[in-house]
Amino acid sequence: GLAPLESAVLDAVTAAGGEAVASTDVAASQGVPHSVLVDTALKTLSAREALTLTPVSHEAWVLTAEGATYAAAGSPEAQLVRHLAAATGGQSLPNVDAALGAGVRKIGMQQAMRLGWVVMDRPTKTLALGAGLSADALPTDDVAAALNTLRDGGGDAAAAAATGVDEATRKALQKRKLATPKTTKTFAITPGARIADARRPQATELSREMLDSGSWRGAAFKPYNFAAKGKDVAGGHLHTLLKVREQFRLIFLEMGFSEMDSARYVESSFWNFDALFQPQQHPARDEHDTFFLSSPATATLPEGAGDYVARVKAAHCGGEAGAAVTGGSRGYRYAWSAAEARKNILRTHTTAVTARMLQRLAADTASAGGVFTPAKMFSIDRVFRNETLDATHLAEFHQIEGMVADHNLSLGHLKGVIHTFFKKMGMDRLRFKPTHNPYTEPSLEVHAFHAGLNKWVEVGNSGMFRPEMLLPMGLPPDVRVIAWGLSLERPTMIKYGVQNIRDLFGHKIDLEAIQRNPICRITF
Ligand code: PHE
Repeated sequence: GLAPLESAVLDAVTAAGGEAVASTDVAASQGVPHSVLVDTALKTLSAREALTLTPVSHEAWVLTAEGATYAAAGSPEAQLVRHLAAATGGQSLPNVDAALGAGVRKIGMQQAMRLGWVVMDRPTKTLALGAGLSADALPTDDVAAALNTLRDGGGDAAAAAATGVDEATRKALQKRKLATPKTTKTFAITPGARIADARRPQATELSREMLDSGSWRGAAFKPYNFAAKGKDVAGGHLHTLLKVREQFRLIFLEMGFSEMDSARYVESSFWNFDALFQPQQHPARDEHDTFFLSSPATATLPEGAGDYVARVKAAHCGGEAGAAVTGGSRGYRYAWSAAEARKNILRTHTTAVTARMLQRLAADTASAGGVFTPAKMFSIDRVFRNETLDATHLAEFHQIEGMVADHNLSLGHLKGVIHTFFKKMGMDRLRFKPTHNPYTEPSLEVHAFHAGLNKWVEVGNSGMFRPEMLLPMGLPPDVRVIAWGLSLERPTMIKYGVQNIRDLFGHKIDLEAIQRNPICRITF
């Protein structure tokens, strides 16, 4: 049914018999503020075409806070005159201040002296009534009267003029900042095209029942409001890290790289370490850095793939068998344990993903009769390390890794690709520093000059995979693989000015900040 206010408006419009009804009149007769009438009844009824609203602009005069106090207590000049009339003899300024307040006294004095209502005796600095004035003959307070007229007349200029508050008076009040004109919008209301339907319930959609019964014929349908604004969609927001990941992804894609399948958080020690020629006694493999799984504690090794596992073992052990597989490497000369390689862990780097991929490329090469197809690949995904947590380290983070495999690649290619990659982020001053990785030789740390931070920062690690890693896989001996890796968190923290990694990742993050964070454009 209709709300009472809607009924009241329809009644008023019907009673007016085609004449326009002023929205202000309806609001006044219903005793509601005009804005309430507009929001609750007029908007809905006009959307239903029951009413036609024609906007009418009015200039209404509203009292300022100061004007409102004078409307109630009298203008300062009148207050001053009344005070002097009630006192005997001249009044000192401090005396008047005590009674009226210094503010009212000052304004009152200014106005009253100009009007000749008050005079000051200079030598004694006292105030007294002006000539011809006495308690029985006080001037009228026209200012307060005008303010009251405006207030009582709802500020309507025409009404005010009719009761003597003419334009000059209003301008004078405006100049004293006691009243200001304000344009308000009201409506002239006339019947709309569908006023006859207004009191009938409106169907919002055509239902199957209406079609079956034929009741649709007589039904009143709610018109579509094509001008209505859609509701804000409370859609998802990309986490800050994912925004930056997207940009890195674009950089790789622009460079012609394809993405590796990295959806494998649980990895065997074999792929994470052994395939990468990391000796089983390597400190990174023990409990301090690696999370081991208790269930399932072990994985199966890729036994079926040629004799890959045996070749990895030979590369680690060295000796004649090792040298035969690796083209002469001495190996590490220890007893390699398959049981150690089978231990399941949470992968500690995405290079495990790269190792799996390279081994697949080697297998593809074998099935293609020894013809190797060059590849450029990347991954951006999560890795885990059992580290001491602090402001910049968590036990899980993300790595960005790129790899190029082709015939006869050199260190120059590695540096060239890395330059291209970092240049796309706006880093064009790079330095390389020798470092060590068990699986690359040579290995280079990448440092970039960060203009914003005005210093050199380490931005990545890189190298050429060792033959001890590639040859056991069965890659042709002239195929070289260059690779580099960096964390996703570090550039993200620099980019978004995050000081503590816990504000970026984990249960303490600020969800609203994630919604507000701008999209990422990688420029350093
Ligand atoms: N895996 C290395 C790391 O975790 C990064 C890297 C990738 C280094 C590829 C060289 C080649 O830091």
